[in-house]
Amino acid sequence: MKKISYGDPLRLGPVTMKNRIIKSPQSTYFWAEDQSVSEQVLAHYQALAAGGTGLIVIAALQLFPCAHGRREGGLYDDRFIPGMKRLTDAIHAHGCVVTAQLIHDGASDLERPRCSTAFTADELPCPTEFCSPCTGVSLAEIEEMKKAFVDGAIRAQKAGFDGVEVHTANAYFLVSFLSRIWNRRTDQYGPQSMENRTRLQREIIREIRRACGEDFVIGVRMNGQEFGHERAMTIEEGVEAARLFDREDINYISVTGYGYGAVPMQYVADYWAYPEADADMRAYVGNFASGLLIPAAAAIKKAVEHPVFAGGRLDAERGEELLAHDVLDGILFGRPHWADAELAKKILSGRYDSIVRCTRCATCEDPQDGVPRRCRVNPAFGREAVLTVTKTASPKRVLVVGGGPAGMEVARVASLRGHAVTLCESQGCLGGKLPLAIMVKGCRFDEVQSLLSRLEEQVRQQVSDIRLGTTVTEDFVNRERPDVVVLATGGQYRLPDIPGIDLPQVQGVRSLAGRASLPLKLFGPARLHTLSKYVMPGMGRRVVIIGGQIEALQGAVFLGRRGRLVTLVESGERLGDRMPPRYLRRTLAWMQRTGVVVHTSTKVQQIVRDSVQCIKNGVAFSISCDQVLVFMPPEVNGDLLSSLSVPVYRIGAAAGVGHSLMVHAIYDARALGCTL
Ligand SMILES: Cc1cc2nc3c(=O)[nH]c(=O)nc-3n(C[C@H](O)[C@H](O)[C@H](O)COP(=O)(O)O)c2cc1C
Repeated sequence: MKKISYGDPLRLGPVTMKNRIIKSPQSTYFWAEDQSVSEQVLAHYQALAAGGTGLIVIAALQLFPCAHGRREGGLYDDRFIPGMKRLTDAIHAHGCVVTAQLIHDGASDLERPRCSTAFTADELPCPTEFCSPCTGVSLAEIEEMKKAFVDGAIRAQKAGFDGVEVHTANAYFLVSFLSRIWNRRTDQYGPQSMENRTRLQREIIREIRRACGEDFVIGVRMNGQEFGHERAMTIEEGVEAARLFDREDINYISVTGYGYGAVPMQYVADYWAYPEADADMRAYVGNFASGLLIPAAAAIKKAVEHPVFAGGRLDAERGEELLAHDVLDGILFGRPHWADAELAKKILSGRYDSIVRCTRCATCEDPQDGVPRRCRVNPAFGREAVLTVTKTASPKRVLVVGGGPAGMEVARVASLRGHAVTLCESQGCLGGKLPLAIMVKGCRFDEVQSLLSRLEEQVRQQVSDIRLGTTVTEDFVNRERPDVVVLATGGQYRLPDIPGIDLPQVQGVRSLAGRASLPLKLFGPARLHTLSKYVMPGMGRRVVIIGGQIEALQGAVFLGRRGRLVTLVESGERLGDRMPPRYLRRTLAWMQRTGVVVHTSTKVQQIVRDSVQCIKNGVAFSISCDQVLVFMPPEVNGDLLSSLSVPVYRIGAAAGVGHSLMVHAIYDARALGCTL
């Protein structure tokens, strides 16, 4: 049998996908406030279609109005049709098939929660920030819901979509019938049989087919497996449900899943095992790279006739393998498409090395509702219309000071645009604080190493004048005579003015970075992360960390996981500023569980040989320790190159603490690089 590869077309009923690469549905919050198509949505999907993908599934189109400002796309009114038509035309112009994912968020719809069965707050299987108590739906409400799905499909067809995808996945409305976790009904839609559990979805499919005819694709997005609950769907149940869908007049099955528990994994593959995996996920985390949902999808594929797609943390190489071994008919890439809109073109032309890889950092997954999502490695995600790299009409001499992520990105982009770029870095290597970040966090779940390697490689290819070990002074600038100077020097990690701060057991980020630089060079950051579990020369056992924001919390996790007894002292009331919400939630829970002691609103008054003396609410106390680490946020060095006569731009942490995360630094760099 011929091995299937990415470039092989695939027939989906009335249409043919030109290849096996699919944009997995993902909500973006790029839609207009009134839920219609915005220019941002148009530019985003146009870029993906131009990037060569075979099928785009437009995610989470709502069948009922959302609360004002929740920027999800709508299909509950005819007024959406003209905008949607512009969108489907723009996608079709690139020969790409497009389906509309029809959804009701079920108990996660915080304004209009709906569920097969009534749930009180105490009974809900997810925390209340993810779902709301709800009353079960009556038979009349089931009819109303069915009609909403069919009306949505009719509008999608009028708007030029090739088809729809019925969403009976994750923890949304239709899953509350499919999954026994939710379904406790006693009627013909109840959990007594899989026929019952899939009855509503199958009725919806039939009515859509009746209303939209044969020339319309109907896909089913379903949970193939669930995790973290005693009644979670097993693979066997997934197969049974898929068989029933397969007997209907559908055109594809798209397999996903869901994880329950205190910190739900909304889409399973976005499960974030930082600082460590939860007990009920330990058995699975080893399978992430090969695809957590692949066993379920593979079993479904064997049991059904229609094409089966799946994804979840797959990369180009793994997807290729799954196609070649006939495990799947098409590969869903979600975040990898956000990281690189040209993913498909690069895959199809074999340019795997040039793919901008998703680093699984969770930045995209944690916005507040309605705030457009962002991608750490791709600043142009959602800003496709403005952040395109075009040739400049007026080439300049650009001096970039600092070879961290911001410096590398701006140098790379400015060079691509045709500027003459000199990149100076005071250290002997590029990367700035990234190697240190990799050493502290490891790269199993936040793959910063791939970001560092790519930036370094591209900078070396594109920037001819890179000067390592070069400290830029005003004299240097006057000699070089650039037209523009870009300060990407990072922030300054100062030590606070506290008696005892000069004692030998006190270290700050600068001195630790200095101490780590040789081992980092010798072993590389990922190996050093592992080696430091066995030996950390000179690091005391009882450690006080001064600081309470992202750098302090990451430091506490790093040391706590290496057997240190950590106490955190933060002068403010809040912990974890600049940490993405899920990252913070998990870290705080871990710290509490493992006994990291935290003192907020506490001032350090003095450090002495064997303790730190503090005061909180007027009460003095002392913390015994043999090591003090200052992990406070970086500050701006305002004096740096402050009296130059050429324009000076600051980016990344050099522009302020609000710019210090990688996502901000790389965004600043791209935005500046595109406008220089
Ligand atoms: C931010 C985000 C939003 C998502 N939104 C949806 C959605 O609206 N509908 C859906 O079926 N899946 C959604 N997903 C799941 C993705 O389609 C996909 O299954 C998941 O991201 C794993 O694949 P990946 O590792 O290739 O990103 C979302 C995932 C993420 C990370």
